[in-house]
Amino acid sequence: MTSRATARPDPIPVVLDCDPGVDDAVALLLAFRSAELRVRAVTTVAGNAGIEVVTANAAAVLDLAGAPPDLPLAAGAAGPLRGGERVPDEPIHGGNALGDVTLPVSARLPAAQPAVELIAQLALEHPGELVLIALGPLTNVARLVTEQPAAAAALREIVHMGGAAFAQGNITPAAEFNTFCDPEAARIVLTSGLPIRLVPLDVTRRTGFPRALSARLASSANPAAAAAGAMLLGMTAAHQARTGAAVCHVHDASAVASVLAPEAMTWQRAAVEVECAGELSRGALVVDALGRTDWPATVDIALSAREGVLEELLMSRLERRP
Ligand code: RIB
Ligand code: CA
Repeated sequence: MTSRATARPDPIPVVLDCDPGVDDAVALLLAFRSAELRVRAVTTVAGNAGIEVVTANAAAVLDLAGAPPDLPLAAGAAGPLRGGERVPDEPIHGGNALGDVTLPVSARLPAAQPAVELIAQLALEHPGELVLIALGPLTNVARLVTEQPAAAAALREIVHMGGAAFAQGNITPAAEFNTFCDPEAARIVLTSGLPIRLVPLDVTRRTGFPRALSARLASSANPAAAAAGAMLLGMTAAHQARTGAAVCHVHDASAVASVLAPEAMTWQRAAVEVECAGELSRGALVVDALGRTDWPATVDIALSAREGVLEELLMSRLERRP
């Protein structure tokens, strides 16, 4: 009989909604290499690149991760809720949005079911258990909240990499990329009252992932680690050309890390609104940290992370043989 001391908790069922994207790809690999999680599906949203590109990239990364051939993959929104042009592709991810690393084309076919329907189905199949990890613009998640409220309420929580709570933005001085791509969607989700943990630039851009670690991964005998390292080197080169610093920011992997090791981060609960009209500040988060408004404080915001926690998780779990 297994003693209580050795009993391992059941893995947390998760869905990752993403826009691969180098850091999305690394986040997916981390999730699949973590026994604490059970990836139930992957859905895609346009962001770092168009919906066809990010969905093909997600399929290729699922192959790299050794995901079951029948793992559900569903494409979602091709643009923001309010319509109009997408925000242009984010060049830091390279021409193919995977750091210009060419992965074998996957034979996986996205489900006919749209992303929102797949997420809703899984949320209702796992009431109170499913964690939705949102790594791109929140368009799919906003549609879930408005079109499938019962399913949204059945989620255990939403963990989102996005926004800049008290830090500078990265696409404008005021706004972070995911929020800037669809501020209306971000407002719907962040003011929904659902249990949300937000992992903003305040944490994800605090320390850079050093080039030396990317190079170590790239030289790994483990194909997934080697591909992750190559993608990270590609993003590091683009970042270095832009800033001079030989690092990259693995933003989305920090969101997965926050599910694996929430105790390694400091959190503050606050009310969060999103500026949708500002000429200079569209996409900015407005965080009521001092209780100046009657907005309900329902979002747990990660403000800092223990030094090295992301590097430890990525290096130990990606390099380990499958
Ligand atoms: O601002 C960083 C976020 O925007 C990350 O999710 C990255 O993949 C891009 O989507
Ligand atoms: Ca992303």
